[in-house]
Amino acid sequence: RPLLLIDTDPGVDDALAILMAHQHADVAALTVAAGNVGLAHTVRNARTLVDLLGAATPVHPGCPSPLVRAPDEDAAFVHGADGFGDVGFAEPAHPAEAEHAALALLRLTRERPGELTLVALGPLTNLALAVRLDPTFPSRVKRLVVMGGAVTGHGNTGKVPAEFNIGFDPEAAHVVFEAFPMFDLVDWEATVRHAFPDEIYDGWIASGDTRAVFFEKIFGTARRFNAEHERTGFIAADALAMAVALDPSIVIRDEVRHVAIELDGRLTRGATVVDWHRRLGGKANARIVLDVDAQRFAQLIAGALGVG
Ligand code: BDR
Ligand code: CA
Repeated sequence: RPLLLIDTDPGVDDALAILMAHQHADVAALTVAAGNVGLAHTVRNARTLVDLLGAATPVHPGCPSPLVRAPDEDAAFVHGADGFGDVGFAEPAHPAEAEHAALALLRLTRERPGELTLVALGPLTNLALAVRLDPTFPSRVKRLVVMGGAVTGHGNTGKVPAEFNIGFDPEAAHVVFEAFPMFDLVDWEATVRHAFPDEIYDGWIASGDTRAVFFEKIFGTARRFNAEHERTGFIAADALAMAVALDPSIVIRDEVRHVAIELDGRLTRGATVVDWHRRLGGKANARIVLDVDAQRFAQLIAGALGVG
C-alpha cells in the first residue's frame, strides 16, 4: 500500500479523495490549507472526515491565507459556505494538532525520507512555506502529485485562464513548481475530460454505505451549481489526482514539460504556462497527466464509497 501525505482544503472533491486514500493506502497526515473556504472550515471538515472514517489520521492546520496577495475569490459558491454543502454537521471529536502543517510536512518527511507520496489537493501555500523553511524538503518526498492548473487555458476561476488552486495562491505554486525537480500535474481540463455520467455516480451512492450517504449530503450544493451552469456529469478534480497518486500506472497518456506560473500578467495572473514546444529552455519539471484508465479510476472511487 502506498504511504500518503495529503495537503488539502476540504472541499467536496477533497473529501472524496480523502475517502479514497483511506480505503486504498495508508495516510500519515492531513495538512490543511485555506482555499475552497477559510481555514477554520477546512480544518473542521478534515476532522469531520477522520471521525466518519473512525481513523486516527493527524490533522495539521496550515496557513490561513496565501503567501502574498489576498485571494480574489473562494469557492464557497460551489462547495457551500462551510465547504461541506452546509449540511450542519456536529462539532467533530477528532482534534486538530498544534503543530503547523508546514512543520508537519518537514518532520514527517525527515522521519520517513523517500517514503511518502505527497498529494496536493488545494492551494500550495503550506508546501511553499515548507520549501522556504527547508529547501531540502523536496528531496525527501518520494513523489508529488498536484491537482492544479489549466494547461490549455480553460480555467475554472473568475480570471479566465487560471485554475482555482493555482489562482488562489500563484506565488506558492511558483515556489513549489520551481523547487520540485519533477511532479505529476493533474489539471482542471483533465478532470473535465474524466467526468462520469450521472448514472454511474447514482450507482455509487446507492451502495448505502455511510461514506456514500455522507458524500451525497455534502455534494448537494455542488450538484445544484453544476446543474445551473450546465456542467454535465460528475467532475471530481481531487479524486483524479488521488487516483494518480494511488496508482501511477493508471495514466495512459501524459506529456513531460516545463511548467511555470504567471505571476504578473494583466490578464493571466495565476495561469499555468506550459512550454509545449520547448522554446523557453527550462528543465522539464512536470508530468502532465492527460488521460487515465477511466474504468480503474471508477473502481477506486467505488471502493471508497463502499460499492461491492
Ligand atoms: C480545485 O479547486 C477546488 O475547488 C477543488 O477542491 C479542486 O482542488 C479544482 O480547480
Ligand atoms: Ca481541493
